[in-house]
Amino acid sequence: MASQLTLNLELPDSPLMTSNVSSTSAPSVIFRDSAFEQNKQDAIHRWIPWIAGFSARFVADILDYYLPNASHTVRVLDPFAGVGTTLVESLRRGYHSIGFEVNPFAALASRVKSSAFTIDPQEFWNTISVFENEARQRTSALDRAFAHGDDPAHCLPEPTSRPPMNFRSRVPFFSPTVERKILHCLDIVREIPQTQIREIALLAIGSILVQVSNYSYEPSLTSRMAAGKENILNADVVGMVSAKLRAMHDDIVIYRSEMEKFTPYPTVEVFNRSSLHVQHILPAEHVDIVITSPPYLNNYHYIRNTRPHLFWLNLVSDSADLRTIEQANFGKYWQTVRDSQPAQLTFRLPALEEVIDAIAARNPEKGIYGGRGWANYAITYFNDCYQMGRNLQYVLKPQAVAVFVLGNSIMQGIEIPTDQFFAEIGQLCGLQREAIHVLRAKRVGNSIINSSVRNGQTTGVTLYETAVVLRKP
Ligand SMILES: C[S@@+](CC[C@H](N)C(=O)[O-])C[C@H]1O[C@@H](n2cnc3c(N)ncnc32)[C@H](O)[C@@H]1O
Repeated sequence: MASQLTLNLELPDSPLMTSNVSSTSAPSVIFRDSAFEQNKQDAIHRWIPWIAGFSARFVADILDYYLPNASHTVRVLDPFAGVGTTLVESLRRGYHSIGFEVNPFAALASRVKSSAFTIDPQEFWNTISVFENEARQRTSALDRAFAHGDDPAHCLPEPTSRPPMNFRSRVPFFSPTVERKILHCLDIVREIPQTQIREIALLAIGSILVQVSNYSYEPSLTSRMAAGKENILNADVVGMVSAKLRAMHDDIVIYRSEMEKFTPYPTVEVFNRSSLHVQHILPAEHVDIVITSPPYLNNYHYIRNTRPHLFWLNLVSDSADLRTIEQANFGKYWQTVRDSQPAQLTFRLPALEEVIDAIAARNPEKGIYGGRGWANYAITYFNDCYQMGRNLQYVLKPQAVAVFVLGNSIMQGIEIPTDQFFAEIGQLCGLQREAIHVLRAKRVGNSIINSSVRNGQTTGVTLYETAVVLRKP
């Protein structure tokens, strides 16, 4: 009989987990650690671990520090909302919250989490009970078949849902038994009439998809076999989804009691769109603070790493949908821009031009796989930073600040102090450089891209993380 593995895997706190680098500069004592780790214990935040998410406590500290006497008419914007850490923490203080998130799965998580305080816990509890009973009934034959080594395809009832047609993976994403269990869970959840409860239940399924699959985060999505792990032949899918739903229920009870003190409730809007278009969507001088962490210049592929969630929850239907999201992604990806015409910066910043020229000159014999391709990526990234600087200048109220969590990178062996350049770009856009707080003076990470450092050699450069604070005059 095949062994039954029910693994409880978590995403890494960040994608930045490949090499250790030491540093001498001291981190800020004003703000608590920006890493996502603590969120795994915190109500609401623990629902979906997110790659490179930041901590709720860090957001709370920023709000305290920069808006100490704020009234409840405050509006907070996160242009790279991820799974909604900024939005939830702002709402908890009674602040109106606005998020932009280009990845449909993260946007769903942001929307569902932040608005979850409006869910009636009793109605949700009743739905959980129905789900548990139905799901156990529909999947019990699968466990019996598994125990006897029988083919799960012969088990009744047949699920109505089908695996997403255009989802491909190198090795079967789920074992046959796990796949049928997931399909049964999707059937039941899709029948839930109340939209908000249906969406939260879909999110619960999304949160366990990779844990029960033959893939894991290493930190990119990799087949378990390639990572030296056993495949998952069977798993307690229903138990795991139920446990997540119950935790969600408990958190909603807490969240509602926190929100009761606000009349009326603060509002939340999540746009599943690129924040580079913010000027077409929000009025000028609309927000009191921006708190965010954009994608780093490390080519971490958020879209590829959430392909299972996007396809299995019907958030995309084919690879053309994925390409559209990739094109909208901040800074794009090296794969997307490496073979485009040598790009130009859309603004003048001599120090940055020097760094980019130095990268472009590295490994010319490798063509687009050498410095030229990587320089294209860096140029695209900083052009988007410039567009974002202009957006901040447009959307911030006078005297309001934008706090951007950023890290430096090493590309082709050359350090790029992304935070410093971002601050200078902000100044070119008419913003004041208020501060750069060191959050983590020593960061481990895959911000070392296509560099000798990846091969174990050292450049003596330290990876760090800072909060860049820009103020609108
Ligand atoms: C570092 S993560 C933010 C994590 C977030 N602070 C949290 O705690 O969940 C960056 C996010 O930016 C999103 N993103 C990338 N390009 C974007 C764009 N043009 N507009 C809006 N969001 C974008 C990515 O999908 C990713 O979720």
